Amino acid sequence: MGAAVHSVLILLGDRTTVADIGCGLGSSTILMAKAYPNSRLYGFDYHEQSIELASATADREGVGDRIAFEVASAKAFPGRDYDFVVFFDSCTIWEIRWERLDMCAPP
Ligand SMILES: C[S@@+](CC[C@H](N)C(=O)[O-])C[C@H]1O[C@@H](n2cnc3c(N)ncnc32)[C@H](O)[C@@H]1O
Repeated sequence: MGAAVHSVLILLGDRTTVADIGCGLGSSTILMAKAYPNSRLYGFDYHEQSIELASATADREGVGDRIAFEVASAKAFPGRDYDFVVFFDSCTIWEIRWERLDMCAPP
């Protein structure tokens, strides 16, 4: 995870909610959950098998209670009011409807 992500999460402080779009097998989501123990993570990917594996890995790594993995496209991932939305190594950004990100912005 890059220094930029670390800096943003430090700035956002404790109890941050983060959406990881195109999370794949959940490596980045799980890494963030471990690094920021008071955070709540949401991992979305449109590949069902990846989400199943990500959930199993999170449980095995002891952070499953703070990560909700769900099958969802970058075009229509659920929820709003995330403090921070991340995309790692993902082409999903090209498919994002920008209004979805506007919905995540603080008022
Ligand atoms: C190269 S992998 C990166 C996975 C993860 N972000 C990481 O860094 O380990 C790209 C992921 O984006 C997902 N993806 C691509 N387009 C997507 C879309 N439109 N909606 C949701 N997921 C998408 C793929 O299923 C794949 O798991």
